Amino acid sequence: MPAAESAVSRLDCVTAATPPSNAAPSAGIRLRPEIAALPAYRQGRAAAPDGFKLSSNENPYDPLPGVAEAVAAASDFNRYPDASALALREKLAERFGRTADEVHIGAGSVALVAQLILATSGPGDEVVYSWRSFEAYPGLVTVAGATSVQVPNRADHSHDLVAMAAAVTDATRLVIVCSPNNPTGTIVAAEEFSAFLADIPEDVLVVLDEAYAEFVTEPRAVDGVPLLARHQNLVVLRTFSKAYGLAGLRVGYALGPVAVLDAARATAIPLSVTGQASAAAIASLDAEDELLERVRHIIARRDAVYAGLLEQGWDAPKPSGNFIWLPTGEHTTAAAERLFEAGLVVRAFAPEGIRVSIGEEESVEKLLQISEEIVRSLPEGHSARRIA
Ligand SMILES: Cc1ncc(COP(=O)(O)O)c(C=O)c1O
Repeated sequence: MPAAESAVSRLDCVTAATPPSNAAPSAGIRLRPEIAALPAYRQGRAAAPDGFKLSSNENPYDPLPGVAEAVAAASDFNRYPDASALALREKLAERFGRTADEVHIGAGSVALVAQLILATSGPGDEVVYSWRSFEAYPGLVTVAGATSVQVPNRADHSHDLVAMAAAVTDATRLVIVCSPNNPTGTIVAAEEFSAFLADIPEDVLVVLDEAYAEFVTEPRAVDGVPLLARHQNLVVLRTFSKAYGLAGLRVGYALGPVAVLDAARATAIPLSVTGQASAAAIASLDAEDELLERVRHIIARRDAVYAGLLEQGWDAPKPSGNFIWLPTGEHTTAAAERLFEAGLVVRAFAPEGIRVSIGEEESVEKLLQISEEIVRSLPEGHSARRIA
C-alpha cells in the first residue's frame, strides 16, 4: 500500500452507525442504523446583539434594493414555481456558453451535491473526497448508503490530489474536489487538477465544488468552467449563497454533461427551487457589477486580515474564500470559546482548527485582537505558530 494511502479512511455504514449518546429512542420504529446514528444539521450559536456571526461564510452586506424588489415582485406563490427554473438556466447558459440543458438549478449547491451523490453512488459504492473539507459531504454520502473515502489534506491544508487519485478503486463512483476548500481556504492548482483528471477513469464522476469561486484571486487556481468542454465526467458547482448574498433564498447551479445532470434532476425533490429564489438570482446577475464590487471589498478585508495574522506570527494557509482558517489543533475549543466571549461566533472543528468568515468591517479589529492573544497562548513549537 503506498504511504499516502495508509492514512485514507473508509467510513462505511457500519463505521458510521454508532448512535450518539444523546440519540432519541426510536419508539420501536426500525430506522436505518446509519441514519439513526447521523446527527441532524446543527446551526452555530447566534451572535449577541453587539456581536458578529462569522460561522457560516455568509455575505455581510444587506440585499441590494433591486434584488429585494425582484423577490417581492415574484408574488404569485399560490402557484408552484417553474420546476426547472428555465429562465435562470437560460441566463446562466448564455453566460457560460452552454445549452440550458447543461445547467441544473438546485435549492442551494448542497442540494446538488446530494443529488449527484444519489445519482452515482449507493450501497457498496465509494465516494472519495479530501478531509477536512465541507462538513456536509460525509452525511450526504451516508444518506445515500454509500461509503466515504476520506483522503487527508496535505500538511499545508490543501487537497492531496495524487493521494485522492490513488484512492480511486473499482468501487469508486464519485470524487469531490473542493476549491477553495471549506474550511481551510486552500485552492487546487489548475495544473494539478488537469493531471488529476487525466488519472481518473472516465466512468467516475468528478464534482468540482466551487462555492467560493468569485473570491479567488490566486492566478494558479483551477477554474472548472473551461474544462467542461474537454471532460465528459466533470460537473462544476457554484452558488448564489456566498458572493451574491442569497444564502437564505437557497439557489445554486451545476454545469456539466446533460446525461449526468438529467440523472441529478431525477433524484431531486421536485419544485424545491422557489420562484423568489430564481427571481433573486436573475436580478443578481443583472446587478453583477455592484455585487462583485462588494466581493472586492470582502477580498480586500480578507487579505488585510491574513496579512495581520502573518504579522502576529500565525502559520495559517493563504485564504482564497470569504473566510480564514486558524489551525489551532488541540487548542481549538478553548480558542473558539475565547473568540465567542469577545462576541465573535466562529466555526470550530476540534481538534483541527477554527474557520472564521470575513464579515463586517467592524468585526476585523476584534478578530485581530483575539487572534493575537490566541497565537501567543499557543505553546512554542505548535505548528500554527511561527513566533518563538
Ligand atoms: C464548499 C461548499 N459547497 C457548497 C456549499 C453549499 O452552499 P449552498 O447550499 O448555500 O449553495 C457550501 C456552504 O457553505 C460550501 O462551503
